[in-house]
Amino acid sequence: MKTLKALLAFGILSITGIKAQSEIKIQVEEDAPIISKHIYGHFSEHLGRCIYDGFYVGENSDIPNKDGVRTDIIEALKAIEIPNLRWPGGCFADTYHWKDGIGPKKERPTIVNQWWGGVTEDNSFGTHDFLNLCEALGAEPYLAANVGSGTVKEFTDWIQYVNHDGESPMAKLRRENGREKPWGVKYWGVGNEMWGCGGNMTPEHYANLYRQYATFMSSWSNDKGIYRIASGANVDDYHWTEVLMRDIPKHLIEGVALHSYSVIDWNNKSSATDFSEEEYFLTMKEALKMDELVTKHTAIMDKYDPDRKIDLVVDEWGGWYDVEEGTNPGFLYQQNTMRDAMIAGATLNIFNNHSERVKMANLAQTVNVLQAVILTNEKKMLLTPTYYVMKMYTVHHDAQLLPISFESPKYKVDGKSLPAISASASKDSNNTVHVSLVNIDAHKTNTVTVNMNGLNIKNVSATILSSEKLQDHNTFEEPNKVQSKEFKDFKLKKGMLSVDLPPFSVVVIEGK
Ligand code: AHR
Repeated sequence: MKTLKALLAFGILSITGIKAQSEIKIQVEEDAPIISKHIYGHFSEHLGRCIYDGFYVGENSDIPNKDGVRTDIIEALKAIEIPNLRWPGGCFADTYHWKDGIGPKKERPTIVNQWWGGVTEDNSFGTHDFLNLCEALGAEPYLAANVGSGTVKEFTDWIQYVNHDGESPMAKLRRENGREKPWGVKYWGVGNEMWGCGGNMTPEHYANLYRQYATFMSSWSNDKGIYRIASGANVDDYHWTEVLMRDIPKHLIEGVALHSYSVIDWNNKSSATDFSEEEYFLTMKEALKMDELVTKHTAIMDKYDPDRKIDLVVDEWGGWYDVEEGTNPGFLYQQNTMRDAMIAGATLNIFNNHSERVKMANLAQTVNVLQAVILTNEKKMLLTPTYYVMKMYTVHHDAQLLPISFESPKYKVDGKSLPAISASASKDSNNTVHVSLVNIDAHKTNTVTVNMNGLNIKNVSATILSSEKLQDHNTFEEPNKVQSKEFKDFKLKKGMLSVDLPPFSVVVIEGK
């Protein structure tokens, strides 16, 4: 397959009148990769109000629930076809001892959540709760297991507990705790952020430790096999990826992780809702940097793994701002505006376009933490702008990538510029074509022409997420202020689809 870089060479840009107009050329390539639905994964940590007072309200709550998990959340996540859910951390993962979270709830020990607010964790939400939740969602569980403060035995016992169907000490324990059949967990994270909260290790030390852990990880009777994910680099720490790829034998690894958040300044992250255009621009600059990160980490992986057997797993990404006023700083509760919709739309387009190597990703985090898709307040629940982007992009799940080429007009602020348009395209198993377009420009409508010739398209429909102000968000008082709706501002003439993309909007085109 031609690289996107090579395809970009075919891009053209023509300016007509006041509006910039870009032509997006779509390439049909039989051997183009499938966009793994796992790129659309989520992450739920024992952090703030993600699990407790988020997903989990307990069996005795007045809030409708299934085994203690809110049914409104289950329904909302099913509607975005959540493919996988990562748990229990994050930094919490390397403090978590899974045996504390099984057996009668009243007898479970408590621990202090040392990373997130120093609150008492009563372990009432444990392995059974999480894996049953994943079953209810129809999502693959992704267990991030403790390496930093755990042992190989603790780790491998967990695998045996959830995956072994025969006679074994852990399968026996699972049955005693009420679960006959194993859950069959495929995705396993071997620690988290081992360069930081996971143990402040050097990559050389971690690579050795990883080899040791991975040697003893067996899938037991899990017919889906086991997929081992090494704790990956922090943003542009390319040396980390280089050492893991160099030092870990290929038969011991299926995925290498990468974490990158869109943060303006770690010491002054600024408000999630009350932000200037300059702050918006800087956030988008960070978000768009994902393309460079994925490209460069992929290049290192290509050097050691030219056949692309090992995947890049971006298992933490999203916007990170100051917490909402009056909330616990350790709980990372933030609102979610149209800016977050821009981050989501553009980042997911990047992942789609790199789906040859990026096979999995997890937005941080699902409920009430960072760039959440759902916020809750007692009985109330709202869906954020990011939720609607995830919903609109479900059409790309497991569809075949259609590589595109175009040259974007610029979004300019104070003499600095970013590409205004981000796009990706795919064709599903019914030959329906979808093109997702994001215009991050805060002021300008950008007209894009999608060249649909050769795709046999007769009917076109579209959905849009847009709003009056960039700072717009849903609140518990006004939960439906921002939501996706039908979009008709396009014209199809002789295979050329002309689309007027309003400022800061996400549009998904469907062509049949
Ligand atoms: O998602 C919040 C935290 O960010 C995670 O616990 C950690 O892995 C990362 O630093």
